[in-house]
Amino acid sequence: MTTQPTTVIAVDFGTTNSYFCKCPSRQLSPVGVDFGGGRDGIPTAILYRQSRPALIGNWALHEYGEATAEEKQSYQLVAQFKPDLAVSEQARTHAVDFLRAIVTQARNQHIALAPAESQVIFGVPSEADEAYKQTLQQVALQAGYGDVRVVDEPKGALLYHLWHKDFSPSEAREGVLVIDFGGGTCDFAFMRDLEVRHSWGDMALGGRLFDDLFYQWFAEQNPDCLAEIERASDFYYVYAYLCREAKEFFSLTMARDRQESVNKSIGRYGSLRKMTWGGFVERARQYRPSGAMLKHLEDLGVSAAGLGVSDGERDLLDWFKRSLEEGLQSQTGRDSGIGRVILAGGSSQWPFVADIVTECLGVDPGKLMRSDRPYAAISEGLAILPALQETFGTLRANLRRDVPRFCEEQIKPMLRQVTDTYAAEIAADVTYELFDQRIRPQLEAFRVEGGSVSDLKQRTSAEVEAFETQLRAIVEKRSQHLRTGLPERVRALFAQWLMSFGLSVPEDALSGECDVLVRDGLLDEHLPDLYGGIVEAVGWFVIAGVASFGAAIGGGAGTALILSGPLGWLVGGVLTGVIALLGVRYGKDRAKALAETWVAPTWLTKRVLSEAKIAKSRDQFQQDIRGRLQKQCMALHAEFQSRIAQVAEQQIEALSEITQL
Ligand SMILES: Nc1ncnc2c1ncn2[C@@H]1O[C@H](COP(=O)(O)OP(=O)(O)OP(=O)(O)O)[C@@H](O)[C@H]1O
Ligand SMILES: [Mg+2]
Repeated sequence: MTTQPTTVIAVDFGTTNSYFCKCPSRQLSPVGVDFGGGRDGIPTAILYRQSRPALIGNWALHEYGEATAEEKQSYQLVAQFKPDLAVSEQARTHAVDFLRAIVTQARNQHIALAPAESQVIFGVPSEADEAYKQTLQQVALQAGYGDVRVVDEPKGALLYHLWHKDFSPSEAREGVLVIDFGGGTCDFAFMRDLEVRHSWGDMALGGRLFDDLFYQWFAEQNPDCLAEIERASDFYYVYAYLCREAKEFFSLTMARDRQESVNKSIGRYGSLRKMTWGGFVERARQYRPSGAMLKHLEDLGVSAAGLGVSDGERDLLDWFKRSLEEGLQSQTGRDSGIGRVILAGGSSQWPFVADIVTECLGVDPGKLMRSDRPYAAISEGLAILPALQETFGTLRANLRRDVPRFCEEQIKPMLRQVTDTYAAEIAADVTYELFDQRIRPQLEAFRVEGGSVSDLKQRTSAEVEAFETQLRAIVEKRSQHLRTGLPERVRALFAQWLMSFGLSVPEDALSGECDVLVRDGLLDEHLPDLYGGIVEAVGWFVIAGVASFGAAIGGGAGTALILSGPLGWLVGGVLTGVIALLGVRYGKDRAKALAETWVAPTWLTKRVLSEAKIAKSRDQFQQDIRGRLQKQCMALHAEFQSRIAQVAEQQIEALSEITQL
């Protein structure tokens, strides 16, 4: 039995830079390899020197930059060979040399990077065809990386953000647009269910054109330097290194504050001064490649026509916008359900990128995500793929097992607590406003002044009816708290629970006020019918009052009836008692007619409606309302719990898809 290597090395082999990231295959702890440049990645460049070993990365660029014109005669600096892998033998050789030198370099620097003993994953642009993938695998094999696995680069970006909890597993399955705007190319990939559904891009639009823009900006301000740069054969170094640095510095400054004016030195040649956003936009709008850059690219085998700028001026910002739009319109269509946008690649840090993307897609800027190190996101995402699959496999099982416990032990008690408070608050409000303020004065008047059952019924009923608007206001106010408070509490618990498994909570499922739970009327549907409930409770009270009144008259029989019989029957029973009493004096038929309207004397009413009895019925009144509300909230509990189980199941399903990637 063969055992899988325990280290994963992911390679994002870029036109400008290449990124290497290591991660244990069973543990989510990726580490980007820093070759000493102070940041991830290494320039994809190799310097062949006649008698000495080739240099790569910054060492190549630096050595070349510092070399005298004479030394340069014996040097060959090669860069940007990656896009031509499938079509150029020479590009393949450079790639093999570069990748092999990486390993040697790492060994010399005591950086643990042993692709031969690791599981190696190479990212490929989503548009790459089979030929490109096979060539890349051959190149990697030849360079000593063994049998490498190739994975779409946008998947790396997606996994990176998933791991960073920028969205939940279920959200990762929804429409996501990954924009990888790098040094040489700009790739777009529309993903759904974790697969690239449609990809497009521009193989010529990349950061290097902006490097050239800054080179020309510099040349404009320092015309005298050009001859010197030429003489020292320093164009590539100035353009691809110094001007790129100036560009990145400028771009970062603009991302912070577009009102700033920026100065930056260009090595020993001079400096670029007073760069402003306006100045940049003006230049980007009418960009024309410099002769020097075209010549340099030609030396690398890239034709000006291939760059798409040979026929004069081009608006770089508009170019980006059109590239984005064309792909959207051609296949996916504008409303293809792009819920999230991931910005990857170094050039995505240009502030105009986010502007154009939000404008074109009409997405909320909050749905745009970019890591702090967008250039490193892809390699990191690819490196964690095996570990993520392993972890998610276990996670899925654990989640499923834990759902019932979570609902029973956390959600249920919380729901009960919240709705009980709600019921108690309403009951207290109603008791105060209706019983204390409206009904009690009627009772007291009845007690002190005497009167008829029918009169008391009428007066209390009138109070209850007049109370309707106020009751609605109380309910409205209290349920507003429930409406916002309950989903918030559920969401917090749910997030906490998912977080304990290392996952983020899906935004749409259980968020703030405008969430699914509230949006589709769940609360409205399950909110108790308070008005009906309370009126019923009030009705009961009125009847109970009448009954005890009747019982007093009838000598105790009525009290038994309250406890045992239905309400209608109860009233009947009370009246029967009254009739019995009156019947002695008036005869049965007459007593019947008189019962309701018979005006009871105060000696009787005082006995029936004692302070203690009123206080007791007040308590009963409050408890009854509270009890009814609590009971009616049970439907709400059940619904919340089943929703939670549903959302959890969605996460579980999404996790299985990831494990099958
Ligand atoms: N803050 C910044 N603003 C604008 N551009 C930047 C910034 N930081 C880096 N870049 C540019 O990003 C590019 C490098 O990005 P990245 O490393 O993603 O490209 P790559 O993967 O090598 O190229 P490609 O994907 O086209 O093959 C360079 O052109 C670099 O100058
Ligand atoms: Mg790239």
